[in-house]
Amino acid sequence: MNTFQRIFLVGLLLHACGALAQNKYSRPLIIPEPVDMVVREGYFTPPDKIFIYSSRDNAVEKTASFLKSTLSNMGAETQITRNPSLANVHLQLFHQPDSSIGSEGYTLRITHSGIYIHANNATGIFYGIQSLLQLLPPAGEAVRAPSQSWSIPCVEIRDFPRFAWRGLMFDVARHFFTKNEVKRFIDEMVLFKFNILHLHLTDDEGWRLEIKSLPKLTSIGAWNVKKEGYFGYFSPPTPDEPRNYGGFYTQDDMRELIKYAADRHVNIMPEIDVPGHSLAAIASYPDLSCTPEAAKYQVRSGERIIDWSKSKPRALVDNTLCPANDKVYEFLDKVITEVADLFPFEYIHMGGDECTKNFWEQNEAVKALAKANNLRSMDEVQAFFEKKVEQIVLSKGKKFMGWDEILEGGLAPSAAVMSWRGMKGGKDAARLGHHVVMAPSQFVYLDYMQGDPQIEPRVYASLRLNKTYQFEPVPDSVEASLIKGGQGNLWTEQIYNMRHVEYMLWPRALAVAETLWSPKYNKNWNNFITKVERQFSRFDADNIKYAPSVYDPSFNTSVIPGRRLQIVLDTEIKGLDLFYSFDNSFPDKFYPKYTQPLIAPKDATMLRVISYRDGKPIGRMINYSIKDLQDKLKGN
Ligand code: ACM
Repeated sequence: MNTFQRIFLVGLLLHACGALAQNKYSRPLIIPEPVDMVVREGYFTPPDKIFIYSSRDNAVEKTASFLKSTLSNMGAETQITRNPSLANVHLQLFHQPDSSIGSEGYTLRITHSGIYIHANNATGIFYGIQSLLQLLPPAGEAVRAPSQSWSIPCVEIRDFPRFAWRGLMFDVARHFFTKNEVKRFIDEMVLFKFNILHLHLTDDEGWRLEIKSLPKLTSIGAWNVKKEGYFGYFSPPTPDEPRNYGGFYTQDDMRELIKYAADRHVNIMPEIDVPGHSLAAIASYPDLSCTPEAAKYQVRSGERIIDWSKSKPRALVDNTLCPANDKVYEFLDKVITEVADLFPFEYIHMGGDECTKNFWEQNEAVKALAKANNLRSMDEVQAFFEKKVEQIVLSKGKKFMGWDEILEGGLAPSAAVMSWRGMKGGKDAARLGHHVVMAPSQFVYLDYMQGDPQIEPRVYASLRLNKTYQFEPVPDSVEASLIKGGQGNLWTEQIYNMRHVEYMLWPRALAVAETLWSPKYNKNWNNFITKVERQFSRFDADNIKYAPSVYDPSFNTSVIPGRRLQIVLDTEIKGLDLFYSFDNSFPDKFYPKYTQPLIAPKDATMLRVISYRDGKPIGRMINYSIKDLQDKLKGN
């Protein structure tokens, strides 16, 4: 650095400290909220060349390389050094392990002279780096500003996770996502300290993992007909429509993904969903079905195959494996052998959800199986199946996990339960002494609509950000240590591309991340939503899509005396101005401002609303016909 640069830098530093004097209490905004954070006066301003020093430990050195390449991608000249006195960034293992922060905790100290991350192991250092990155400009902005202009606030952070299981589930079966798209998913999840990627690898619409001993699973089972529109109600495919939509991961692809995830301290948990949701497997190997017509079945392309209108769903085609067929268990043994060899993670998730029973009820072999084994219901038949699958999983040295339906006919002895139909399955399983991962749909189903159904791609349920933020994984009156943690689930029936994956993930997965990492006492909606807004600008800079639904107007309707329709407007982020029209024209800030519930004028046909902040439009305009608002009253 020459003298001029030195003077320039000192000037910058003085300027930074002066700025802080006026804003002494500004707290760095980090998601998930750290356990402890003390803000000190001043900033650290990196020099034109950043030197990283790390402990001599393979895994820590990898985190140093990760940081180096991240900073380099942000345009900062960065080098790894063996000389601690030269370094501005220090990544070091504690000499004496600090048991209070566990295996994933870290401390991050930023002083005027440098950055110091300490942890008990490399995972903690990696999370310290993730917190640090949120104190830097987003990559997309940083590249346009030299590192000497980054001002990193002086802080002392001590941080560790509340739960060891901080997951996201990605359904790559309903729509296939490429290896690079899965990598992008991993890149984004680690920013917020998620550590488990649950891949839903098989379903009616596709089998996504090469099983070498069962090649038809992917030569046939990975392909269907491309359809767009409202999945679930597509026209049945016709013979002239090509079955070339889909794809799968070869075992080499999956090994690459597992390594990519492991390098980022993420475990991949495979899910093979049986005995329901198995049409892709059955289309590949029809002998797996109890139903002779299975010989004609094809991988589903989003046409209707189950009637969900009754309390007990009824399959229109038999998408279940036959529990009374030895070939099914031989098939599962082959699959699980290869899956267990491929994935280092301790659990294999074997599905078990939404297994329709109407074909089993009619089948002589299943009835005979029930009789011979004294099984009194089809739920007990499923439980019989699950216990056999559990034994196969255990025989390969893995642990068995399933959706909460596996409780219904009696839970397999060692099973861990993933609770999705609310918290009840998780509670029941924990009361029986089983391990539980909480993924209750009413809080963490990230495929649900996050804004008003009027503008969101239609899904059968809604879940707003503030509801996700209310997720509390540990129910009263259960042994907390049995709750391993939780996860957000992203089903992809209605998700056709990666941009929409991001739109559905963010910001709700931020709420999941904070719930799973931060202490309960550190959760605060007002603080969180401030951080979410800051994160939006980071996402913008980094071309990551997110849903702006928190800014959009929402509509609540009721009928008041005189049979007039009353409409209450609101937004999730408070303090916005809402402007509206009933005259069909497009409202802006010169239109009537919403101050009290609206009564639709007698002949109005349309209500249009848009939100503003500080005189600028911020939400999306929502256009409702009065008829749709009236239908809303009926819950449509
Ligand atoms: C599920 O949502 N069917 C687990």
